Amino acid sequence: MARGGKKPDARDGKRYKSTKTGTDPNEFSGDTQPQRSIAIDLQQKCLDIFRDALEPDPEETAILQEVKGHLYDRNFAAAFGKDEYLQVYASRWSPSRALAYLQVFQDIEAMLTAGPIKEGDDLSIVGLGGGAGGELVALAGWFRMLQAEGDGEGAKALDVTLVDIADWSKVTNSLRRGITTPPELSKYASQAKKEANHALLNDTDMSVVFLQQNLLHVKEYEMDRLSERLRSARLITLMFTLNELYFISVASTTKLLHRITNCIRPGSCLLVVDSPGSYSTVSLNGRETRYPMRHLLEYTLLDISKTETATPEWEKVFSNDSRWFRLAENLGYPIKLEDMRYQIHVYRRLGTSAG
Ligand SMILES: C[S@@+](CC[C@H](N)C(=O)[O-])C[C@H]1O[C@@H](n2cnc3c(N)ncnc32)[C@H](O)[C@@H]1O
Repeated sequence: MARGGKKPDARDGKRYKSTKTGTDPNEFSGDTQPQRSIAIDLQQKCLDIFRDALEPDPEETAILQEVKGHLYDRNFAAAFGKDEYLQVYASRWSPSRALAYLQVFQDIEAMLTAGPIKEGDDLSIVGLGGGAGGELVALAGWFRMLQAEGDGEGAKALDVTLVDIADWSKVTNSLRRGITTPPELSKYASQAKKEANHALLNDTDMSVVFLQQNLLHVKEYEMDRLSERLRSARLITLMFTLNELYFISVASTTKLLHRITNCIRPGSCLLVVDSPGSYSTVSLNGRETRYPMRHLLEYTLLDISKTETATPEWEKVFSNDSRWFRLAENLGYPIKLEDMRYQIHVYRRLGTSAG
C-alpha cells in the first residue's frame, strides 16, 4: 500500500472490512477456520468493475453457445481462441469466480501473510492460467481489504503476474483500468456521490503483468522471465487450470510443478482451486488409469519428496475437497451469476530462504 498518504478508508468513508458472522452461507463445516464474509459493497464494486469494463450483454447468446460448445468438447484452444469468445467468457464466468476467489483469499489470508512482509516489498502473486480476470479483480479487492484493515501496511503495492496461453491482454487491460479508475458518474450526480466516487485501488497500488505463454511448453526465451516471477511470488495460484493442464499432459504438468518447486521461495504458497471430483487419465505401461487431480498433485508435491529426499519440499496447510461459494442475493449484475462449488488446496514451500 502506498505509505505516508492518508488512510485509504478515508477515501470514501467505507471500510471494506469483513465482518464475523455465524450465519455465513459460505461457511463449511469441513473447514477448521470459520469464514468471515466479505462486505457487500466491496463485492458489488468488484461486479461493477466487470460490468463497466466488459459490458456484458444478456442478449448475447450465439457466441455464448459457441464458447459453451467448445468447453463441453474440452477444446480449450478453440474456446479461448478469439477475442469475442474471451470477452464473453470473462464477462459471464469471471465475475462470480472473482467473488469466490475474494472469499478464498480472505479465508487463507493468515497463511499468505504469515511470513514477514518486508517494509517496501511488493506483495507478488502469480496467477497461472489466470488471464480471464477472476483472480485479478479478486486480488485487487483483497488488497483493498488488507489496506482497510491495516494488514497490508508492510506491502508497498500488489504485484500481479498473470500467465496464460490465450491472449487475454485486452480483458486484463480493461479490468486493470476499471480497478484503478473511478466509475463514470452522470454530470447530474450529487456532490456527495461525486465525493464518494473512488477507484477500488490507486494506480500506484497495483502493477499487472500479463505473459502469454504455454505453461506446458515454455520456450527458451520465456523461461527466465517466468522463473523470475515465480521466484519473487509470495503466492502462486492455479485456479480452475490444473485439471485442464493435466488433461492436456500429465507429464508436462508434473514438469511445471517441479519448476514451481524449484523456483518458489520457502514460506511462499501454492493455491489450487478446481472443480470437485476432477479426474485425469494417466497411461502407464500401456494401461490407462484415472486418478483424482489431488492425488496426482500430491504425489508430485508431497509423496515423491518423502521418498527421494530426506527433507520434504512442501507442507499442506489447508485442504477441502468440496466447498461452496454462494452469492449474496442483493448483488446486481446484468447477467445471472452462479454459485460455485470447488475443491481447494494450499501448500507451503518448506526450507530456508537463501536471502
Ligand atoms: C477454465 S479457465 C480458468 C480461468 C481462470 N483461472 C479462472 O479461474 O476463472 C483455464 C485457463 O487456463 C488457461 N490455459 C489452458 N492451458 C494452458 C497452458 N498450457 N498454458 C497456459 N495457460 C493455459 C486457459 O487459457 C484459461 O484461461
